[in-house]
Amino acid sequence: MNPTPLLEAHNVRKHFPGVQALDGVSLHVNAGEALAVVGENGAGKSTLMKIMAGIHRPDAGELRLDGQPLHLTGASDALRRGLVLIHQELNLAENLSVTANLFLGREEVRGGVLGWLDNRRMKAEAGGLLSRIGLDVRPDQRVSELPPGQRQMVEIARALAGNARLIIMDEPTSSLTQRETDRLYEVIDDLKRQGVAVVYISHRLDEVRRVADRVEVLRDGRNAGALSRDEISRDAMIRLMVGRDLKQLYPRRHAIRADAPVRLEVRNVTFVGGPTAPVSFKVRAGEIVGLAGLVGAGRTELAEALFGLRRLTGGEVRIEGRPVTIRSPVSAIAAGLLLAPEDRRRHGLVLTDSVQGNFALPNFDQLTTAGLLGWVVFSREKQLARDLTNRLHVRASSTRQIVGQLSGGNQQKVVLGKWLARKPRVVIFDEPTRGVDVGARSEIYALMDELAAAGVAVVMISSDLEEILGMSDRVLVLHEGRLTGELPRSALSQEAVMHLATGGAPTESSAAESPRPSGEQA
Ligand SMILES: Nc1ncnc2c1ncn2[C@@H]1O[C@H](COP(=O)(O)OP(=O)(O)OP(=O)(O)O)[C@@H](O)[C@H]1O
Ligand SMILES: [Mg+2]
Repeated sequence: MNPTPLLEAHNVRKHFPGVQALDGVSLHVNAGEALAVVGENGAGKSTLMKIMAGIHRPDAGELRLDGQPLHLTGASDALRRGLVLIHQELNLAENLSVTANLFLGREEVRGGVLGWLDNRRMKAEAGGLLSRIGLDVRPDQRVSELPPGQRQMVEIARALAGNARLIIMDEPTSSLTQRETDRLYEVIDDLKRQGVAVVYISHRLDEVRRVADRVEVLRDGRNAGALSRDEISRDAMIRLMVGRDLKQLYPRRHAIRADAPVRLEVRNVTFVGGPTAPVSFKVRAGEIVGLAGLVGAGRTELAEALFGLRRLTGGEVRIEGRPVTIRSPVSAIAAGLLLAPEDRRRHGLVLTDSVQGNFALPNFDQLTTAGLLGWVVFSREKQLARDLTNRLHVRASSTRQIVGQLSGGNQQKVVLGKWLARKPRVVIFDEPTRGVDVGARSEIYALMDELAAAGVAVVMISSDLEEILGMSDRVLVLHEGRLTGELPRSALSQEAVMHLATGGAPTESSAAESPRPSGEQA
């Protein structure tokens, strides 16, 4: 006998200007169960979740809670009924403390305004929540001081603060460390034992396999299929998501010529907020160098220093053999070095501008140096936007669509497209495929490969080991800000990278000084 589901969605439809985001989707989740929802970027996952959390109202269709029709009047209505959404885009009040954030929006639920709550009790409760998820921050610390992973954990702690019956996690692990992710799995198991229902959205299919009791696949705003626990496999999910088998995710990399010129040379560099030990490495034309390490190892900081977002305190950076002085992103770009940043909502995009506008931003000189009249510039801008949108398969109703309205993964593609339109010498990608679906992933990899083939030096920071192994000609590993080793392609393995990333001493092959030409073996 099947129990009455905790929450059901029946034939839900939702239209946004220019796009039918949901085209008759049905879904149910039972108490004590983890349901994963997967699908390509723009499939409608977040939209459906926002409907279940009272943020959007459906155009048609129905929700049911405990078998009874449910008409949510808003997010706080949903919260009162125990339906909690942890957003894909972080949603914290940055200038408030961790404690304040944990209780924010719950005043109603708790029958008092924030100020009425006993400060000490609140702090104690906050402490309890933080230790429950194993997060080591002070309750009075400001959220703006925390790195993205810890902010995400605060969001998760906040969801636990109420008497949740359903917790929806929309890509919760995209900025978590492995340890935090493991802790999250334990929290989910715990919630299930207490009869809480969990909806889990992720593009990382190995996570889905770990967490889900059942998988529901969405495609183009419709149900594409469902998998029960013993049917869940990577291939089965991909087949339903993309509608075909995806044979090769990573492009076949070509061997790097040993005499390829060095494009980027970092010599004994130190920088503000960096490690005391200076960092040195080289990247040759046509090479893709993976920068691996645990979250917090200092990879993003290093990239920021090279891109002029952090002040260098020593050492030298050379591009194509010439020493360059990089004081700001403008001088980095002028020197031919680009960074596609990790925190794209903050650094990568103008969310209120259109797709076209965002593509054009960093290319302004390229578009205007032709010295043409405004309308010509405009039409070139339009052409460029169309080309990039097609090349990257950006799912937008038109190039005039506001970027803030695109799905998370499609925003990432716009950031990448923005940089690719330039003719860079060196490109640093920081977590290029975070939140990006498998189909788009293979396109981003193909683009990286294309850049390398055109002689660009590519540095790829990634926490996704599979991606590091799949794409890199050579891997540099950072541990606590220091380069702890270097692995040529022939010595690459998950174990070898993890060994160095966790501070293990380099073995013989990982101590190799100069880049070796990489073979075709993969
Ligand atoms: N507020 C909005 N206004 C206009 N269009 C929107 C809005 N929110 C979502 N859309 C569109 O609805 C479609 C579904 O988007 P949604 O965010 O639900 O996708 P998703 O499955 O969560 O994708 P991702 O994996 O990239 O996060 C997309 O085409 C998106 O551009
Ligand atoms: Mg989404």
